[in-house]
Amino acid sequence: MSSDFMPLRGWDHIEFYVGNAKQSAHFYDKVFGFRPVAKLGLETGSRDRASYVMAQGNIRFVFTSALRPDHEIARHCALRGDGVKCIALEVNDCEAALREAKSRGATVLQPVQAQEDAHGTIRSGVIKYAGDTVFKFVERKDYRGAFMPGFAPIEARGAAAPTGLAAVDHIVTNVYLGEMDYWARWFERVMGFSQLTHFTDKDISTEYSALMSKVMENGSGKVKFPINEPAEGRRKSQIDEYLDFYCGPGVQHVAMNTKDICKTVRALRERDIDFLRVPDTYYEDLEQRVGKIDEDYAELRELGILVDRDEDGYLLQIFTQPIQDRPTLFFEVIERHGCRGFGQGNFKALFVSLEREQARRGNL
Ligand code: FE2
Repeated sequence: MSSDFMPLRGWDHIEFYVGNAKQSAHFYDKVFGFRPVAKLGLETGSRDRASYVMAQGNIRFVFTSALRPDHEIARHCALRGDGVKCIALEVNDCEAALREAKSRGATVLQPVQAQEDAHGTIRSGVIKYAGDTVFKFVERKDYRGAFMPGFAPIEARGAAAPTGLAAVDHIVTNVYLGEMDYWARWFERVMGFSQLTHFTDKDISTEYSALMSKVMENGSGKVKFPINEPAEGRRKSQIDEYLDFYCGPGVQHVAMNTKDICKTVRALRERDIDFLRVPDTYYEDLEQRVGKIDEDYAELRELGILVDRDEDGYLLQIFTQPIQDRPTLFFEVIERHGCRGFGQGNFKALFVSLEREQARRGNL
């Protein structure tokens, strides 16, 4: 087997460009149970932007807003609404990662840059991904501060209880019809990923809409990127709806692992997170389809949690409604018991539910 030319330590952080970073940070604290870690803004000497770093388990989110109208962040938000701008991956050697990516055809947006403060040095470099989304390679082995140079630690004052979200499982991108293959090959060529699975519109279709999906994963299997493109359907697919409202390709959902999905979903429901409702009929033959699991089927039904099984085990999953006004970004909560899949057995039931929501928005 050839050696992994792009060894990734794992997810470093996800940066969202948002209209009001202060309020987003509050939302992710009080609702999702993220803990405030560090911030950057006027009081730390940042004249053009404010950023809040929030963490839970191994998940690190950064919410960033512009402080001025004529600013790339402000334009991004005006065009796309709130969304994921940057997917940061941790590497041992940023210089090597960027050199490999560039030599394999990546578009470099920021060459390797070293930032330093009293806590050490962070090296990072940025390459272009789909739409305006970017990948950032972060080397933090020589850094011991809260997040990065420029950020001041936040004293947490009575943060809400965590909800059990433990790690990023996968991040899904939506691209235009005809682009999925390009990005799948890009992940192979530039990032050294391999293709895990491929779903065609035969697997993922309902009466009205269809999509195709390819799942890419890195050498260690820690980092996974499904890529969706719409397929021709009788009506507008959920992917088309996303592309329309995000004004282009971008991150559709971020899936986060939990060790106890019932506890996590119960906590999120108590804090008024709305999840996609699957039809009650979904649960009628579920036990026959999936077989014995550790969880109680009645509780899964009460909470609206989906179950899927493959030859390696089973998984439990649930999807939130979009978390901003535009029908764009949402989250998935997932608990894996051996299964490495993405819940393909649930796609049909889910799409019926998604289309009902689309119809309510007048987009079907
Ligand atoms: Fe997913």
